[in-house]
Amino acid sequence: MRYASITERLDGLGSDKWAVHMAGRHRANAGEPLIFLSIGEPDLPPPGAVVDQAVASLRGGRTRYAPGQGEPRALKAIADHLTRRSGLEVAPTDIVYTAGTQHGLFSVMATLVEHGDEVLVPDPYYATYEGVVAGTGATFVPVPTRPEDGFHLTPEALEAAITPRSRVLLLNTPSNPTGAVLSAEELDAIGEVCERHDLWIVCDEVYAELTFDRPFSSPYDRPQLRHRTVAVASISKSHALPGFRAGWAACPPGMAPKLTLITETMLFGSQPFLADAVAVALAERHPETVAMRNAFHERAQAMVDAFAGSPAVHARMPEGGMFVMVDVRPTGLSGLDFAWRLLDECGVVVMPGESFGAGGAGHLRVALTVERDVMAEACGRIRGLAEQIAGV
Ligand SMILES: Cc1ncc(COP(=O)(O)O)c(C=O)c1O
Repeated sequence: MRYASITERLDGLGSDKWAVHMAGRHRANAGEPLIFLSIGEPDLPPPGAVVDQAVASLRGGRTRYAPGQGEPRALKAIADHLTRRSGLEVAPTDIVYTAGTQHGLFSVMATLVEHGDEVLVPDPYYATYEGVVAGTGATFVPVPTRPEDGFHLTPEALEAAITPRSRVLLLNTPSNPTGAVLSAEELDAIGEVCERHDLWIVCDEVYAELTFDRPFSSPYDRPQLRHRTVAVASISKSHALPGFRAGWAACPPGMAPKLTLITETMLFGSQPFLADAVAVALAERHPETVAMRNAFHERAQAMVDAFAGSPAVHARMPEGGMFVMVDVRPTGLSGLDFAWRLLDECGVVVMPGESFGAGGAGHLRVALTVERDVMAEACGRIRGLAEQIAGV
């Protein structure tokens, strides 16, 4: 029997990237004691008030079909949250509720591009983006960023990658894997290029609440860019609730009905009891979310400090998110080879930088999702292996 070409386009985009992690899982199941720093899943507890609301709504019978665009209470809470954030009015009619950022990104991309179109993506990029673009039939175009620029996209690099087929710039700030947080000024300069070439901006803001020293900025919050920007996010990271599969796409005026055609076709609505919990999550700042942001910030600094002074390994302080990019280029190994040796010889599981595009070569992406003492142990092993290989 014949399968549709989408299965070929998506084939191989997922599993290879996770090979080290999957091998680690396999070995852990067989009883090997390993330290996992490979997955971006918050280890700290979600806000109690949000979980309580989900349970209360579930018990209260909020289990029927929701409207396709989303439950009105959740749409209003999301719109109010974004209005407070930017000072620019966001209408609930411009919000589409999604089953998380991933579902939002796929649906938005299917709304905007198709075969023959090109999507520009700063490299390194989140591991699922190639599939998100390939699923639509459009072409994925990596735009290089450099470690020396803190992996920030420059308007010049963007301009150089644009062709007459370019339709969308897919941004991610704070970035997974690099931790780069784009400033309002950088977004304005990048946005000016998008304006000139009439590009959509799709901004993955799933780590928006996890910035450290610099404030979060979104192109959706810039008055001159909102009409070409879709902001996609969820409560997966901000509220440590990835299993809720609860997020949104904030659209420019006019787009939400088009996007709803896609989300509704895929899921025919969402879960009202979880939508109620999203409304509670966004109504106020919960102490748990602040504690989590502070924990990631402290752990990031501790990791950077753990490698300080080593001639073989260097960690870049992220500006946000929950990962650190660790540069192992002085060892002469690729990130992938280093990650395999780290698993085999030291029992630590990390993601090779190459899983996030050519720009991640020679790096490891290390998650900050374990307690400080476990992280210190893992960092000691990473440093030890790097110095042994580099012979220093
Ligand atoms: C950059 C980025 N975007 C999207 C997602 C998926 O988020 P969600 O759980 O909201 O689908 C992740 C999860 O790790 C991520 O790192």
